[in-house]
Amino acid sequence: MNFESAKSQLTKVLVTEEQIKTRVAELATEIDAKYAGKDVLLVGVLKGAIMFMADLSRALSISTSMDWMALSSYGSGTVSSGVIRILKDLDAEIHGKHVIIVEDIIDSGLTLSWLQTTLNARGAASVEVVAFLRKPAAAKVEVPVWLVGYDIPNEFVVGYGLDYNEKYRSLNCVAVLDPKVYS
Ligand code: PRP
Repeated sequence: MNFESAKSQLTKVLVTEEQIKTRVAELATEIDAKYAGKDVLLVGVLKGAIMFMADLSRALSISTSMDWMALSSYGSGTVSSGVIRILKDLDAEIHGKHVIIVEDIIDSGLTLSWLQTTLNARGAASVEVVAFLRKPAAAKVEVPVWLVGYDIPNEFVVGYGLDYNEKYRSLNCVAVLDPKVYS
């Protein structure tokens, strides 16, 4: 799905398809340099991270494996409690592995904070975070993040894996959803 086909439901583009390509390549260069000669496990958080994972993993030159987790935050409505439930755990042990958490977006930071603690407790050799988007104004907890694609304003964004009611994930850019769609 491109901007033209969804533009009646979007107010503006924050990150274009071209900017996504460029930034993913830059992030991959940094990851290749830091992990040269190492095996890396990329851990994607479903479902939002699927597009970023697909692009980033293919842009890397180092040897990688891929695994996935699906998480759900307990809480009512839009208020996240920070208590996370595992809907799908990793398929394999991570003890002794160099793990990179691949996230589409850091909003409150609660998901990531919990995930970092959990993967470290499982005995990973290292755990770093690469997130394509971050909303600094929405942060509720400070999370150490190694690489970020773009810091964005605290608006309802969709595309590049991000959804509203499971729609717009396949939008090829990151855009602000028109409030009329959800109000
Ligand atoms: C989103 C996103 C992160 C999390 C970030 O997932 O993919 O995992 O929220 O929010 P936080 O920083 O406030 O914890 P979501 O729960 O919307 O699921 P989805 O990826 O399947 O859409």
